[in-house]
Amino acid sequence: MANSSVKQQMGKLPLVGIVGWRGMVGSVLIERMLAEHDFDLIDPVFFSTSNAGGEVPLFNAQRVTKQVTTLQDANDLQALARCDIILTCQGGDYTKANFPQLRARGWNGHWIDAASALRMNDDVVLVLDPVNRMVIDAALAAGNKNWIGANCTVSLMMLAIGGLLKADLVEWVSAMTYQAASGAGAQNMRELLLQMGALRDAVQDDLVDPAVGILEIDRKVSAKLRAADFPTTHFRNTALAGSVIPWIDEPVEFGQTREEWKGGAELNKILGKPSFRSPGSIAVDGICVRVGAMRCHSQGLTIKLKRDVPMAEIEALLAADNAWIKVVPNERDVTERALSPAAVSGTLTVAIGRLHKLAMGPDYLGAFTVGDQLTWGAAEPLRRMLRILLDVDA
Ligand code: HSE
Repeated sequence: MANSSVKQQMGKLPLVGIVGWRGMVGSVLIERMLAEHDFDLIDPVFFSTSNAGGEVPLFNAQRVTKQVTTLQDANDLQALARCDIILTCQGGDYTKANFPQLRARGWNGHWIDAASALRMNDDVVLVLDPVNRMVIDAALAAGNKNWIGANCTVSLMMLAIGGLLKADLVEWVSAMTYQAASGAGAQNMRELLLQMGALRDAVQDDLVDPAVGILEIDRKVSAKLRAADFPTTHFRNTALAGSVIPWIDEPVEFGQTREEWKGGAELNKILGKPSFRSPGSIAVDGICVRVGAMRCHSQGLTIKLKRDVPMAEIEALLAADNAWIKVVPNERDVTERALSPAAVSGTLTVAIGRLHKLAMGPDYLGAFTVGDQLTWGAAEPLRRMLRILLDVDA
């Protein structure tokens, strides 16, 4: 693997173009890169779609730039082509508009991307190194240059059950998801809070008056949820606060949504297995639901094991798999405290709990997992891929 590292090829700090660093995922990426001193390893070039020529800002009062201190035009192919590596969180439209042209003009650098646009291309590896480092290393050795972050829900689920996947114990998985507002975008997080506030405001006086019955309060809340002035611009005329939305992304075949399809399509691609719905692949399916959490995706899993494995062995496999997993005992107090978006939000912890054999049989495992959609779900696999390219341990 070291043979293909960018650092060795260049013999100096590689030029790394960073695009889409101002958005939500990009901001978390920069936070994490600062925390892990990634900027010491690279010569960063910041690109902008709106403010080319401006000064690159300080991050946490630190100047991270070296040679290039002004913002470059994110649509200037010549400027992009000077980079050894491009790391983008700018979104799928940007990728579609620039990536093919860059490659067409012969740019041979590494492209690391958070967007889904290229994910299913044959010459793309989905990066989640604690789970698929072997796939990444084999692709690096074979000269692959396209490294794409997987869907957040898929990555978080695979980190949670990595121990079972690596032990080849998983026949199929049904994931019923509880996905945070952040997955829909920053504006949706704001709208969720506006909705929460509007509901509270609708019954503000009643809440402090013990004489008002709860059914009266509920009637007002329900009326507000359906009122024309309820803030629903970003949630497509639907309430999320005080409600759930059992539909994420566009419809695709077989009655699935695209978010549900990604579970099977991307899990198998991450593992380098045959494609979803073909022999030798792992079937993954379920219903993806938006809930009123801010940035943590939760999932209720039914895992069909290939054989009856004792619970203690399952817990040991899960716990030993990676440094971020937290196996929560199937007990009430600790589950309420540790296995929730409130506990996990903003961290790199991937919690899994409620582990028990289901009534369907000893080879059916129930589990509930929670992970931050912006850290391990989006930014972290990208910055770790950057380090792998630099041949510095992630
Ligand atoms: N598609 C995910 C969601 C977020 O809507 O929650 C991005 O992976």
